[in-house]
Amino acid sequence: MPLTAAYDAHADWYEDYVSGRAAPYTRRSGELLASLLGPGAGACLDLCCGTGVRAGTLRALGWTPLGVDLSRGQLRHAAARLPVAAGDAAALPVATASLPAVACSLAHTDLPDYAAVLREVARVLRPGGRFAHVGVHPCFVGAFADWSDRPRVFVDERYADRSYTTQAWDPTGVRARVGAWHVPLADLLNGLADAGLRLVRAMESGPGGVADVLGLLAVKPV
Ligand SMILES: C[S@@+](CC[C@H](N)C(=O)[O-])C[C@H]1O[C@@H](n2cnc3c(N)ncnc32)[C@H](O)[C@@H]1O
Repeated sequence: MPLTAAYDAHADWYEDYVSGRAAPYTRRSGELLASLLGPGAGACLDLCCGTGVRAGTLRALGWTPLGVDLSRGQLRHAAARLPVAAGDAAALPVATASLPAVACSLAHTDLPDYAAVLREVARVLRPGGRFAHVGVHPCFVGAFADWSDRPRVFVDERYADRSYTTQAWDPTGVRARVGAWHVPLADLLNGLADAGLRLVRAMESGPGGVADVLGLLAVKPV
């Protein structure tokens, strides 16, 4: 199936959304990303960089962010924040074993095969390189989870369904626009292991005690 950049049609909306209505979530998930990745020097690939909203966080840690995204609409905004290239996360325009760090924020449910992307992350990382993943929490966020009665969250049998869907409890959010693939928790963790990445740390964050974000730090073994 040819890749289509679903965000091209929503890039201006997304630019406003992450810094407007979703700003508290953007900030909180960015803090998680910073805690996991930690300070460092050299290039950090901002994988699926979107509008470049993580560039400032990565720079504040000492990294030099470089963005890759499939959507030229998103990259139009990102180019004002970091050097960018158009590319597919599953076939990165990046040399093997060339990077000390990769960060991927809020994008794994946009990718039809995140396990393949994790293998590509492992390919481009140097031995000892760090990979920070921050994404919607696989257990509590997706078409299978209804947050309309916060802080209660209702999870239903669609947790087992990995297929693409635009179903979402919030008709005004990102997923009702661009849809999502669901990656169950075991698939996410096994994807890291199968790519040869070693999990170092996991962190959760969420309002009212239920986590809506899961972050993982993994390293490529030396
Ligand atoms: C929800 S946005 C997240 C953007 C940014 N990382 C953030 O934290 O705001 C997901 C991004 O993944 C990008 N994307 C989807 N499929 C991709 C692919 N195959 N390769 C590269 N980027 C992709 C989309 O274009 C979009 O910009």
